Amino acid sequence: MTTVAFRGAAAKSHRLWGGRFREASGGSAPEFDALNNSIGVDLRLWPFDIELSKAWAMGLYGVGVLTLAEVNEIERGLDAVAERLEAGEPAVASDEDVHTFIDRLLHDEIGAAASKLHTGRSRNDQVATATRMWTMDAASRLDGAVRALQHAILDKATMLEDAIMPSYTHLQRSIPILGAHWLLSHFWPLDRDHARLRSVRQSAAVLPLGAGAVAGSAYPISRTLLQGTLGFEAVSANSVDAVSDRDFIAEMLFAATLIATHLSRLAEDLLIYGSSEFGFVKFGERFTSGSSMMPQKRNPDALELARGSAARMLGNLTSLLATLKGLPSSYNKDLQDDKRTLFDAVDTLLLVLPAVAGTLEECDFQPRKMLAACSSSMMATDLADYLVRKGATFRDAHGAVGTMIRRAESRGGDLASLPFSAFQEAHDLFEPDVTEALSPARSVRQREIAGGTGPNAVREQIEKARATLVVIDQKPNAP
Ligand code: ARG
Repeated sequence: MTTVAFRGAAAKSHRLWGGRFREASGGSAPEFDALNNSIGVDLRLWPFDIELSKAWAMGLYGVGVLTLAEVNEIERGLDAVAERLEAGEPAVASDEDVHTFIDRLLHDEIGAAASKLHTGRSRNDQVATATRMWTMDAASRLDGAVRALQHAILDKATMLEDAIMPSYTHLQRSIPILGAHWLLSHFWPLDRDHARLRSVRQSAAVLPLGAGAVAGSAYPISRTLLQGTLGFEAVSANSVDAVSDRDFIAEMLFAATLIATHLSRLAEDLLIYGSSEFGFVKFGERFTSGSSMMPQKRNPDALELARGSAARMLGNLTSLLATLKGLPSSYNKDLQDDKRTLFDAVDTLLLVLPAVAGTLEECDFQPRKMLAACSSSMMATDLADYLVRKGATFRDAHGAVGTMIRRAESRGGDLASLPFSAFQEAHDLFEPDVTEALSPARSVRQREIAGGTGPNAVREQIEKARATLVVIDQKPNAP
């Protein structure tokens, strides 16, 4: 095939689309370019764009558009482009997006042969493919960071196996639990996040390349081959859907929002427990900052930033869903902004997850303070259970203990401050052994039900958590 050079607006500014525009109009307005260009956001897609371009070149060879020599030249050219990008090659004003930039550099490297690469494809299927590849990789990286935090939680939890602390509902003291039990309550949500990230990866692993601009490529390239080469798990079934489907981004943003929400909850617990009023935990020095005015301060900034990041994640998710909701089918330029939300969410979480893990690792829990916060009134439920065991109905028992609490409160104390006579007055099934029922350790020991806070149940929970990390880590997430 001979190549006749085309000279026009496209050639001059290296646009992928200049032909139908009059040269006399002087090119697009700088104000338009400033709005339209996405290179500032999408440059990071370049490794995937190069990889998919190599696969596409092989596909074009398969249908006779490129000779093997041309494929080799394009591959060599793309490698050289990758080296330049790796070295920080700056984009120029006319590099509208990462695809245009790479195309220009490829022409720079190998000349005319580069002009054949865009045969049968469009930036519409190209950007969808590159973004999916980026997302698959990001899901694996995020998963690694989630796993690392789970390890940190598990390590600390094993150190809190004997610590007893209050549990809270409505942020009011409820029933004593083991410190390990509280901390592991943050492990399992992350385990669900881990599963969600796997599913995000799977949603992203559907290949759009071959969809062309919207109707499917006019060259019968083997999409199965492309799928295998690029590590996808399936090929898209409909080209119109393929160029507009951003469900995988919405799923990633939802997964990210939920991860951030879980981090926010863990952060909030630690922030409360770290306040002087609680004093259950002392923060270290590597993930906290001081105050420019108050010399005594050590502020748990990393946790607060983690808590705050959940708001940004939610904003990203909402922004994408609102964009998708307004669109007709197929590709529309609004979709260009999908990457802002995606990148921001992933970048933020990749900063926040290690910072939360680091903060937790250097947390110094104070078991004595935790135990001291378990006032005897927290054993009110145990006291009711005591009466039930002696034959009372739970409703009766609940009423009797309630009366005692009221009495204790009116004397400014809690259950343990009442004399034995007060117990007998409240219910005649109370006997002197009732004092045992007021012990937090006994309360915890009573709850040996699967998933409960009993020491054996918690030991089993720790084993389960450990096994979860081992078993699932053995299944590689990457292609
Ligand atoms: N930069 C564009 C994006 O990110 C690439 C696709 C452009 N397609 C088009 N028809 N102009 O969505």
